[in-house]
Amino acid sequence: MIYKYIALLILLFQSCALLGQPLPQIRQESNKHTLLVDGKPFIILGAQLWNSSAWPIITDRFWDQARELGCNTIEAPVYWQNIEPEPGTYNFTELENLILEARKRHLRLVLLWFGSYKNGRSQYAPPWVLENPEKYPRMHNKGGQEIYVLSAVSKNNLNADKRAFIEVMKFIRKIDEKHQTVIMMQVENEPGSMWTDRDYSETANELFKREVPAELTQKLQQRNGTWEDVFGINAPETFNAHYIARYIDEIAQAGKEIYNLPMYANVWIRENAFERPGEYPSGGPTSNMIEMWKASAPHLDLLALDIYKGNPDIFKALCSIYHRPDNPLFIPEMGNGDNFARFQFYALGNHDAIGVAPYGLDPFHVDPHDKRDRENLDQRFQAIAGNFHLLKKAIIPLAKLQGSGLLKAAGEEEGMTEQLLHFDQYDVLFNFGFPTYKDRSKRTGRVMIAQTGDDEFILLGFDAKFTFRPAYSSGYETAEFILVEQGHFEEEEWIRERIWNGDALYHSTLPPDGALLKIKLRKVKSLNNFKEKANFDKN
Ligand code: DGJ
Repeated sequence: MIYKYIALLILLFQSCALLGQPLPQIRQESNKHTLLVDGKPFIILGAQLWNSSAWPIITDRFWDQARELGCNTIEAPVYWQNIEPEPGTYNFTELENLILEARKRHLRLVLLWFGSYKNGRSQYAPPWVLENPEKYPRMHNKGGQEIYVLSAVSKNNLNADKRAFIEVMKFIRKIDEKHQTVIMMQVENEPGSMWTDRDYSETANELFKREVPAELTQKLQQRNGTWEDVFGINAPETFNAHYIARYIDEIAQAGKEIYNLPMYANVWIRENAFERPGEYPSGGPTSNMIEMWKASAPHLDLLALDIYKGNPDIFKALCSIYHRPDNPLFIPEMGNGDNFARFQFYALGNHDAIGVAPYGLDPFHVDPHDKRDRENLDQRFQAIAGNFHLLKKAIIPLAKLQGSGLLKAAGEEEGMTEQLLHFDQYDVLFNFGFPTYKDRSKRTGRVMIAQTGDDEFILLGFDAKFTFRPAYSSGYETAEFILVEQGHFEEEEWIRERIWNGDALYHSTLPPDGALLKIKLRKVKSLNNFKEKANFDKN
């Protein structure tokens, strides 16, 4: 009998080992979303490769730089044209190399499926698809001409893409289920159609004349009728959005049935110029099509925001639009300049982003817009690397604080050298942009702060002076520093590296290379803080 139990225990042990950790997932508790990796809260500090870089000759030269950057995740394309060079013949050589090499370096991967759609075109479909529009039909424009975009109403296109994606997911499951280097899949890339507001092929025209599917009008709480009846001037774009979302949803669903990773679609935003569909990929998950995508692509975990806009108001407004109870914010592409570093703080600290990733961080690109100083490694992406190295010190606490209302971020903006953040019982004033900082145009001042106890905070950031005071309504005048420690978290355990006191607290300024502080305060009634008194005296 005892042997039976031992055998059972061994079996149980083996199957646990085989199963490894729970799969990455996005957990939702009321309105809060948390990406879980290895069952623990995780924030993607990502680096997206240039489009033509997910090849060993490039990545082999990138791994050291990835370490320098401090990212915890690489976002890398997987090209349909390379995965399935002939129909039904698959090549996983490069994908396998990518996964194994990233794993060796404890990096995670978000894989970008460049299948039928890439920036509102279809240039990553294999030659046997692109050369055979009779079998794999293209969209047509209003003038009836075939364009460089696969038709989303074609079953042949859908089935061909889906079949390849299923093979990709089978391969990932086979080599990665135990390790989970791959944590998320982007299904297609900035889908939609350039040059036309909708598909005007014969099949699409037929569908366009019909009534909007009743299931869809119900979900959208719209009346029944044809596309034009229901959506008026926006009918072409909405029609395209529905069929493209359905197409991508079917691919994602099939992929998830094989290997259930979180999956998402990313957007080429319309907030660029004239906002005419076709001048941006029409039918993508743009801000005006979010409801349609939510209704038509229920298997996607989120609609992700690609944003290169350097204007903070536009950035914040778009974060608010894509951060919804039914949509965790994720920014898989953003600018990589120093001036984007503070935007990462806004996304993570004020909009609870599950991750951020600047685009084009590998060094050997052929794009003439790649303006990096190839000689000067230390200068390259200084602010982005600074963020990653600092944020990595508190990933789990930060991910847990997101959505609690206790975490806030601020950054240096034009005409806003002082910013006041309010917490329960405390106000915190930040001063940015001291004359001592060399290059003011980069606006590198940025902070993230969380109240972690009645009189306790964690504060991290760069180039910012901080002053705590009890809230005006609290009846107290001054906040005394009781203990200020600099350090990092190992998982959730605080590890002190040094104590700040004396001049460090007199100046109370986060340095240009950043610091993470744990701060304990005490509220007192008297105005006994030298520094604040000095400020008052000055006034
Ligand atoms: C957005 C796309 O999604 C990326 O793949 C890349 O092409 C960038 N634009 C380049 O700016």
